[in-house]
Amino acid sequence: MARIEVTEVFEGISVPGNMHTQESLRAAANFQFQDTDVLLVTFPKSGTTWMQQILSLIFNKDDLQTIQSIPTWARVPWLEHTYLLDNLTQIETSKPRLFTTHLPARLLIHNLKNSKARVVYLARNPKDVLVSFYHFHKFAKFLPDFNSFEDFFGHFLEGKVNFGSWFSHIKDWLSVQQELNFFLITYEDLSQDPLQAVQSLSDFLGQQLEPKELENIVHYSSFSFMSQNDMLNYSLVPPEVLDHSMGKFMRKGVAGNWKEYFSPEQNARFNDVYQAELGDLTVKFPWALD
Ligand code: A3P
Repeated sequence: MARIEVTEVFEGISVPGNMHTQESLRAAANFQFQDTDVLLVTFPKSGTTWMQQILSLIFNKDDLQTIQSIPTWARVPWLEHTYLLDNLTQIETSKPRLFTTHLPARLLIHNLKNSKARVVYLARNPKDVLVSFYHFHKFAKFLPDFNSFEDFFGHFLEGKVNFGSWFSHIKDWLSVQQELNFFLITYEDLSQDPLQAVQSLSDFLGQQLEPKELENIVHYSSFSFMSQNDMLNYSLVPPEVLDHSMGKFMRKGVAGNWKEYFSPEQNARFNDVYQAELGDLTVKFPWALD
């Protein structure tokens, strides 16, 4: 598999070279948004695939079946991936155009703020992000190997993983929210009360949902449905890219799994960094840190 061992570095951010090139990253940074576009923003392992499914269901509520035959990454492609340029013509035909990005706000804000594009920022308890990302490294062949959970833990806290620091990512995006048509939602909101969370999201997107449509969207985006559907669970990705013998993309799908991994010492260390990095934020997140 070409470039599977390559890590690309763009504007200080490390990204897997099999899906990103300098050209594709430059294209994302120069991307011209349309007012009708919807951009999903996440740090990796925050529930991106889940939200890609929800967004695409909301905008295809009249035909929830047909879209299940297209993988989520093709329905809501990453702005920064190499295949975006090849698929843009097809994406142009869908209104609104739905995109995903893991890039920091500083690389996109210039073009984004000149449009009325809707930005959906999906956040997740960073402790669960860390655990999910750790497992992903074990079976994603395009990510570096770490010696142990502790080794990965240290790199994550220092922001020395692909896509950089979780803390910088969320602070960067929240700092520009007033300049954007911006909606913050969390993995925990979706887990605790999916009907309410999808309803609020569809209100933001200007999409009216009948009660039955809302129920169907929650059903087709549930963990049990998604983990069994090959277009949604990444099981069709070839083993040279994802070694399926080493793990599952749809792993646990719960909030709070970090408690089974963090030692008391790691938890205290994480909380210190969290407090130092996010202590000044006024926004209250629904996740539990203890
Ligand atoms: P876990 O590894 O904790 O299970 P991303 O799509 O950003 O890479 O995030 C992947 C994480 O989201 C994985 O977390 C995966 O199981 C979880 N996920 C995906 N679909 C989900 C769903 N429908 N409900 C709950 N969690 C889901």
